[in-house]
Amino acid sequence: MKESCQLAAKTLNYIEDKLKVGMSTDEVNKLCHDFIIENEAYPSPLNYHGFPKSVCTSLNEVICHGIPSKKDILKDGDILNIDVTTYFKNFHGDTNRTFYIGNVKPEVKKLVQVTYECMMEGIKVCKPGARLGDVGAVIQKIAESSGYSVVREYCGHGIGREFHEEPQVLHYGTKGAGVELKAGMTFTIEPMINMGSRHCKLLKDDWTVITKDKKVSAQFEHTILITQTGYEILTLDPDGKQEPTI
Ligand code: MF3
Ligand code: CO
Ligand code: CO
Repeated sequence: MKESCQLAAKTLNYIEDKLKVGMSTDEVNKLCHDFIIENEAYPSPLNYHGFPKSVCTSLNEVICHGIPSKKDILKDGDILNIDVTTYFKNFHGDTNRTFYIGNVKPEVKKLVQVTYECMMEGIKVCKPGARLGDVGAVIQKIAESSGYSVVREYCGHGIGREFHEEPQVLHYGTKGAGVELKAGMTFTIEPMINMGSRHCKLLKDDWTVITKDKKVSAQFEHTILITQTGYEILTLDPDGKQEPTI
């Protein structure tokens, strides 16, 4: 599972250097697809419940599950989330990052940075004996105190031999509530944070989720393991820039 998670992280590092204004999200998909296949893994999203592509590409007001397309061309000032999940030696590894395309407005960069902080602070409370409600509460507090909102319809998840397993990892909640964490658990934390209201809308393609008010949304995701003393971020690649680059 660690190897699968490391490959997912390396795929994001690989694509990061290739992103540029004028490129389509379909090209992003092709580059990631080929990289994953060359590394003898399978892109988990491809044909997952009928998803037609190998990664999710979510631009600006797209919250999650954006479908790569030749029609979606990256432009200066965009933010693009690329969500990579690999299947390698019978295990899934799931990670995503939101990238800046060209010159992004300071207010949008702030949202991206706070979203990264939400994910990291959510991860830092994880240890045996902590509860999933502790994770949700810390994420909700950071997001809402910054004037943003937390998407509630989509959440993190257990992961391993299956792409999506129990438990659901909500990005809002109450300290002390929910499932108790135990060493050996593996799950994702992947907060989706909106500049405006938390409400979302599913497009007619049955995949793309956008904000109801069309304001921007950001997301970061790591797959983590609960250890005897705390946690390990399985999708952390020491060679990669992790934080959103200013
Ligand atoms: N990678 C997404 C997640 O973080 C799930 C994508 S499902 C797909 O859980 F079918 F859209 F690929
Ligand atoms: Co996930
Ligand atoms: Co994902």
